[in-house]
Amino acid sequence: MKETVLITGASSGIGLELAKCFAADGCRLVLVARNTEALEELAKELRRAHDVEAIVLTADLSLPETPKRIFADLSARKITVDVLVNNAGFGANGAFAEVSLPRQLEMLQVNIASLTELTGLFLPGMIERKRGGILNVGSVAGFMPGPGMAVYFATKAFVLSFTEALAEELIGTGLNVSVLCPGATESNFSNVARGTKSRQLKTPKMTSEAVAILGHRAFRKGRVTAVTGISNKLFVFMTRIFPRQFPRKIAGVFNRTND
Ligand SMILES: NC(=O)c1ccc[n+]([C@@H]2O[C@H](COP(=O)([O-])OP(=O)(O)OC[C@H]3O[C@@H](n4cnc5c(N)ncnc54)[C@H](OP(=O)(O)O)[C@@H]3O)[C@@H](O)[C@H]2O)c1
Repeated sequence: MKETVLITGASSGIGLELAKCFAADGCRLVLVARNTEALEELAKELRRAHDVEAIVLTADLSLPETPKRIFADLSARKITVDVLVNNAGFGANGAFAEVSLPRQLEMLQVNIASLTELTGLFLPGMIERKRGGILNVGSVAGFMPGPGMAVYFATKAFVLSFTEALAEELIGTGLNVSVLCPGATESNFSNVARGTKSRQLKTPKMTSEAVAILGHRAFRKGRVTAVTGISNKLFVFMTRIFPRQFPRKIAGVFNRTND
């Protein structure tokens, strides 16, 4: 039987493109986000283009009760999730003391707590069935501290560390566990991160489609950490060889330039 793949944040950007990649494999999709209309439109497109089943599940992952609700809803419908793609996430530009504290805490809930709880709920079944796995969407931001986006960078450090540790724990189980680490990518991300500020990010960006294709391929090949693009790979390499204060200075300049 074909796999069932649950993708959070499938209503736009990288998540939407990942949904297309898994649909092209013939998988059944469970599409999760808040924007029902965008999810329905994507579901229609996937059914038409790939003849797959696509289920829309409207959910707000900033609410602590959401992961349990998603799990209970799917269990009641006897839908088994083989692959969990924790992609939903957002950032907020600005100094920690200046960005609204509730917004930063919401970010912890979506980027860390919901991702961890969904993993904890769906993983035991995957281990039992010896198939499927977890694809988490981290960021190159996870490799360094990020002045000007401090909480966001820290959430992605969690995603990177958590996923790599999980991959090691699950060796020999038959599951794939990967973390996709994109750099600047064309999507709705910077509009959300910038809020009311109107200037556009000046950094060259990869397309969400290219990022998703690389992430999907890395997951299928069982690669644990997938950094997208040569310049991002070089940057990550630099964070390993230079003293710790250099990457954080560069990240601070980058975030200020794009603020
Ligand atoms: N774009 C970049 O430059 C970049 C770089 C590195 C990593 N990333 C990571 O890539 C992932 C996808 O981001 P993207 O670039 O594709 O941005 P995006 O276009 O803004 O997509 C974000 C997705 O997350 C969902 N989401 C946000 N808050 C949510 C909530 N409270 N409940 C449920 N879903 C929520 C959004 O859906 P709704 O609004 O419909 O809920 C949307 O589908 C994120 O984890 C991001 O941190 C992005």
